[in-house]
Amino acid sequence: MNKRDLLNFRDLSREEMVRIFALATGLKRKQRQEIPHPLLARKCLAMIFEKPSLRTRVTFEAGMVQLGGHAVFLGPNEVQLGVRETPADCARSLSRWVDLITVRTFSQSTLEEMAAHASVPVINALTDLSHPCQVLADCLTLIEHKGELKGLKVAFVGDGNNMVHSWMEAAEKLPISFAVACPKGYEPNREIEEQARKDGARITVTHSVEEAVTGADAVYTDVWASMGQEEETAKRIKAFRGYQVNERVVAMAKKDAVVMHCLPAHRGQEITHEVLEGSQCIAFDQAENRLHVQKAIMVWLLRSFKDLDDDPWITT
Ligand code: CP
Ligand code: NVA
Repeated sequence: MNKRDLLNFRDLSREEMVRIFALATGLKRKQRQEIPHPLLARKCLAMIFEKPSLRTRVTFEAGMVQLGGHAVFLGPNEVQLGVRETPADCARSLSRWVDLITVRTFSQSTLEEMAAHASVPVINALTDLSHPCQVLADCLTLIEHKGELKGLKVAFVGDGNNMVHSWMEAAEKLPISFAVACPKGYEPNREIEEQARKDGARITVTHSVEEAVTGADAVYTDVWASMGQEEETAKRIKAFRGYQVNERVVAMAKKDAVVMHCLPAHRGQEITHEVLEGSQCIAFDQAENRLHVQKAIMVWLLRSFKDLDDDPWITT
């Protein structure tokens, strides 16, 4: 069987997404009931991180241990991709020792180069362009809170960044509509937007917060300056004034709307303390589901669903 990767939503079919949500739900139940589920016994995951992380690092590492395997963390000073050796050579070496690789890096092309040269599956743990694992966890969280994804409107307020790109790519495959409100000059990547539209995604890109948020079932935001853009922080704080998720903005959405944030959050910038701590906010449910969804992704990549059909206990 050819190896599979998860570099962006193009690597997943609609059916596979549905099965990942079901498997993640089953694994979450097993974990909460403290029932062992060593589906990846003795497997080893290498985790390359060129940027900081709390959630992604801990959830992949803890997830692999819960599945009976082991994880090796490699920070920026150890590997030095492109400096000490090429991403291709790094991928080829790692493939001789481990079963799976996750990569958090700057450029999507570094990730793609590693996947092209690795003989084991490679997972995108965030790039400047995309963050599919986060959006898969977000979708599971929405299913838990809203019953199903069908017909939901997700409104994103803030920077047209990696989170927005992954939401637009996911919207091609999911029965949701997605609207983003961002200041002029901070719109999402046009190519990704056009491709997603061409593939059937229902997407709105606007400068009006009211237009994006009206009728929304979920109001989503993320930092104004992403990792790697720290020196632009002061400039961005000015540019994004008016794009904060506060009580006035939440009131534009449906009464029962949820508020979402991928975290880390900057209170007083993209979101107020009151909204982040408010009863509508589900940010920590999203963070929890990173663990369960990524466990399902790793099982899917290493065992395939077909193999799991003989293990009915896992989805029940
Ligand atoms: N949301 C998320 O990816 O968090 P970390 O940067 O802490 O991994
Ligand atoms: N847009 C943010 C997401 C962090 C999870 C960043 O790239 O820093």
